[in-house]
Amino acid sequence: IRVGVLLSGRGTNLAALSEYRRRQDRAYDLVLAASNVPEARGLVVARTLGLKTWARSHRDIARAEFDRLIDAELRRHDVEVVALAGYMRLLSPEFIRGWEGRILNIHPSLLPLYKGLDTHARALAAGDMWAGCSVHLVTDALDDGPVLAQARVRIRERDDAETLAARVLEEEHRLYPKALDEFCAELRGAAPR
Ligand code: GRF
Repeated sequence: IRVGVLLSGRGTNLAALSEYRRRQDRAYDLVLAASNVPEARGLVVARTLGLKTWARSHRDIARAEFDRLIDAELRRHDVEVVALAGYMRLLSPEFIRGWEGRILNIHPSLLPLYKGLDTHARALAAGDMWAGCSVHLVTDALDDGPVLAQARVRIRERDDAETLAARVLEEEHRLYPKALDEFCAELRGAAPR
């Protein structure tokens, strides 16, 4: 299954997806990394990994129109599944409709807890015992689609948002590739090409 990755930042999850794919044959192939942040570190990562990249700033362009550009680029590369990996923008309803059931996201909390930003600080402030990450399908509501996979991380007494984020990120790197692979394997089984 041909996967396009959308990112806005560092791209460590992209690197993890690529590494997992490189180790053996999987149900997915990464074909493109696209970004709304032309200077995103993740694009450098993508190029190093030999991926095609596309970038354009979302400033000065309406969301729906910007998303149409991304959509066109994804389709130009025959992308079948979209994986958000630190893509820090809401997608337009039109885009989501066009890719219904085929957009995955990784979110750094145990959804349905802590949708949105600052998940780790919020988990710490609440005195939670567990933090973690979730891979979910993207729907119109922020961080709200069906959860496909989760990993838990024990919160330690001395944790701050940064130390906790670092341990959760390690779990993200394990969880996302497996979840994407399983999702794509199922999709492939459902609709042979
Ligand atoms: C991760 O924490 C992910 O859960 C969130 O954005 C961050 C992306 O990090 N959605 P990276 O760009 O993959 O390093």
